[in-house]
Amino acid sequence: VNELTQTIATYAQIAGAYARARQDRAPLKPHFERFAALLEPGGRVLDAGSGPGFDTAVLQSAGFRALGLDLSWQMLRAGRDELGLCAPLVQGDLRALPFGAGSFDGVWACAALLHLPRTAVAPALGELRRVLAGGGVLYLSVQQGEGEGWQPRAYGQARPRFFTYWQPAALDAALAAAGLRPNYASAEAAGPTVWLNRLARAAG
Ligand SMILES: C[S@@+](CC[C@H](N)C(=O)[O-])C[C@H]1O[C@@H](n2cnc3c(N)ncnc32)[C@H](O)[C@@H]1O
Repeated sequence: VNELTQTIATYAQIAGAYARARQDRAPLKPHFERFAALLEPGGRVLDAGSGPGFDTAVLQSAGFRALGLDLSWQMLRAGRDELGLCAPLVQGDLRALPFGAGSFDGVWACAALLHLPRTAVAPALGELRRVLAGGGVLYLSVQQGEGEGWQPRAYGQARPRFFTYWQPAALDAALAAAGLRPNYASAEAAGPTVWLNRLARAAG
């Protein structure tokens, strides 16, 4: 079974439960503030792997021209159906973005790259870098750990999702290889999960 195909099929099933469970974005506030401080007011921001678009909405209310993109239309629709969100969202694949080079001043990729097999992450970072203007800012978060593999349950359902876990040094090397210069790094525990957060600027 293809890792991403199965994971996206799981998101189709859990979209409503995910939207209800993850709507509190307050824990991300410090990351929003650091990201926003590196951007010009009104800048163009892509929320890559936006899911229901919570963060697209937060970015929009902060005055950015924000657009969310996700491979799962059920996840995109869950934001509207479950929570009444109305930020602009499009269905698409962050590995092959339907935007020209330099289209965005910022890319927000919260818990989005963590489902790609490790070998797919370098090309995906290259793609996020491609749509960033020179000096543009990337935020990303992934889970810390060893290896990659299937988690059998998601949001109370016996449906599998594939996760790739990262060591900080490997993540930083992948960012550097994509032409993204580190600006901020943290590791943050949330229960048993440790989130690696990164801000990086596109070279040039
Ligand atoms: C853990 S959710 C995070 C959603 C949202 N960013 C958040 O923080 O709530 C992961 C999301 O990534 C999306 N996703 C995974 N691979 C993707 C890809 N290649 N292109 C676009 N979206 C993808 C999934 O459909 C899912 O909505």
